[in-house]
Amino acid sequence: MKIIHADFIYTPDGFIKNSAVAFTGTIEEIGTLEVLETKYTEAEIIYTPAHSVLFPGLINTHVHLEFSANKTSLAYGSFNSWLDSVIEHRDDLMGACDNAMMMHECEEMMRSGITTFGAISSFGNELEVCEKTPQRVVFFNELIGSNAMYADMLYGDFEDRVRASQSCDPGSRITPAVAIHAPYSVHPILLQKAVNVAKKNQMPLSAHFLESQEEREWLESNEGTFKAFFRKYFNTSTSVTTIEEFMHAFDTYPTHFAHCVQATPEELDYLHRKGHSIAHCPRSNRYLGCGRLAIEDLALPFSVATDGLSSNDSLNIFDELRAAIMLHNDIPIQELSLQLLRAVTADAAELLGLNCGKIEVGRFADFAVITLPEAPVREEELALWSILHTKKVSQVYIEGEQYV
Ligand code: BEZ
Ligand code: FE2
Repeated sequence: MKIIHADFIYTPDGFIKNSAVAFTGTIEEIGTLEVLETKYTEAEIIYTPAHSVLFPGLINTHVHLEFSANKTSLAYGSFNSWLDSVIEHRDDLMGACDNAMMMHECEEMMRSGITTFGAISSFGNELEVCEKTPQRVVFFNELIGSNAMYADMLYGDFEDRVRASQSCDPGSRITPAVAIHAPYSVHPILLQKAVNVAKKNQMPLSAHFLESQEEREWLESNEGTFKAFFRKYFNTSTSVTTIEEFMHAFDTYPTHFAHCVQATPEELDYLHRKGHSIAHCPRSNRYLGCGRLAIEDLALPFSVATDGLSSNDSLNIFDELRAAIMLHNDIPIQELSLQLLRAVTADAAELLGLNCGKIEVGRFADFAVITLPEAPVREEELALWSILHTKKVSQVYIEGEQYV
């Protein structure tokens, strides 16, 4: 048994003071240090630096590790030029991204307090790194391919990758999962088969959806900048699906949709009624010129995620939260800060079906300790100060073991 004490603890009921947490691999009890010390006399006591706040480990629901080599290769500013640059540089970027580079990015995430992430994997290259990193990984095996001619081959490869992620050592903390690349890039037959795999195995399911205006225009009317892209690379002038058909394919299984920036209120309402949720990637959306997701109007739950280094400048979750504060400049800042912290802890865990994300008895003992530069003058502003003053966390625990 260990007991950790901090000036403040972020719990589902808000920040509490003068408390400590007793834990093994899971959280055993929350109470005053005096009471816990008396009860668990053999426990190791962990004191955190002055002005520290104990958080549950943070969760980055959506990241593409295999694009970690990108710094300036991919064009930012508009989705169309970005997609063209992905096709042009994909092989070079993948070739330059080895296990050491991906492990470095897992460590960077860990230093920002991320104890769980959702890895969107196109080829399965990240599996070894995801097995080795101490973090929990929801390993999203991504299916991509709009051309029916290659459907069997692509599906066979997808099945192999799903099986590989299912046979990981339980100690690697991998949860096998399924991802659909996007409506424009996945043939409806493949899509339905992949949804069935997720449903049959009760795996988390994710899909990029309505990220850009260009995607919307293509799906709605076979027009816009995607037209030249599909003519050039896929020799086709018609989309494989429509917005409605794509949404309906997920009707029977709750899905975590990335982006949805260009979804209408009616589409968002439909997704909400079907029990879906959104991975909101504010910097990625801004960098690729996709627009702003109006989170102030969202009824459905959402997480906040970095996306990959293919559309970002870091995988630091606090960088992402600060960007969200700037992007959503009309939402009252204290309220937004609280909402963002919930989005990267309790809400993210619930959406991915994981027993973490909350400091609550019975949850995994995954923690991130952040340390403020001084005692907060107004404690009701703790959420904002935590976001603004944290570049790196001071301690990280996963399943009770310390890693930072
Ligand atoms: C496709 O297979 O249709 C596709 C792949 C990557 C980007 C866009 C489309
Ligand atoms: Fe993504």
